Amino acid sequence: MIRKCLFPAAGYGTRFLPATKSMPKEMLPVVNKPLIQYSVEEAIEAGLTNMAIVTGRGKRSMEDHFDVSYELEHQIKGSDKEDHLKGIRTIMDSCTFSYTRQIEMKGLGHAILTGEPLIGDEAFAVVLADDLCLTEGGDGVLAQMVKLYKQFRCSIVAIEEVPMDEVHKYGVIKGEMIRDDIFQINEMVEKPATEDAPSNLAIIGRYILTPDIFDILINTTPGVGGEVQITDALMQQAKEGCVLGYKFKGKRFDCGSIAGFIDATNYCYKTFY
Ligand code: UTP
Repeated sequence: MIRKCLFPAAGYGTRFLPATKSMPKEMLPVVNKPLIQYSVEEAIEAGLTNMAIVTGRGKRSMEDHFDVSYELEHQIKGSDKEDHLKGIRTIMDSCTFSYTRQIEMKGLGHAILTGEPLIGDEAFAVVLADDLCLTEGGDGVLAQMVKLYKQFRCSIVAIEEVPMDEVHKYGVIKGEMIRDDIFQINEMVEKPATEDAPSNLAIIGRYILTPDIFDILINTTPGVGGEVQITDALMQQAKEGCVLGYKFKGKRFDCGSIAGFIDATNYCYKTFY
């Protein structure tokens, strides 16, 4: 079924400068674990086995994170410090990693298109590591979406209600409610002004996409901010077939913003440590 998960992780992370000048945003630690590791764990929990990461210049540390570190591991072998590496070793034994580089940062849609050679002709998940999604018990957000895909077999975006004065930060949807937590989308606008927003249902960084999205993305011209927007391609897909918006169960922290990152850190420290 769905085996592959694409992680677009090539963005500049300007909201986190200077921290992100030479370090990927995805490697920022929430307590003691980098954001990208939380995302990979969520994908594994959803049953996915092939992790495909779209990286960019200065992002090599992500590849090193999911690899052995011989000197360090030799040094701590046999000590209780080894325990700290158990989690990451389990990850490395549970899935494969492949990487490709986005040469020019032309937006999320372009980053997803860059990942096509790693995905091929099958439905796949997309996770934006800077949106940290956590559930206490029950399925993770991606697992919830994979289950939904088995039932509906079309592209699905995770959505969340946000305050109207924040809609300008998101892709915003409107649709017909087909279950209390599922909308069949008929309108989608990227970063609308408050007065132009069709609702306060914002798309967050979890997607299941059918592979026809790549052909649509090739022909998608740059939109808001001069970037190729996945929202525009999804709107095309919604017109031609079906795209669902799913109100997920769980908490989401926008770790691409300083306030969201601090909230996530406090929450994780209190909940998991
Ligand atoms: P953001 O909109 O958060 O942009 O991208 P950003 O560059 O990471 O951060 P800011 O806004 O400058 O602070 C959403 C996701 O899409 C990826 C990012 O890595 C992030 O996971 N992305 C964005 C790419 O991979 N390539 C791009 O060209 C743009």
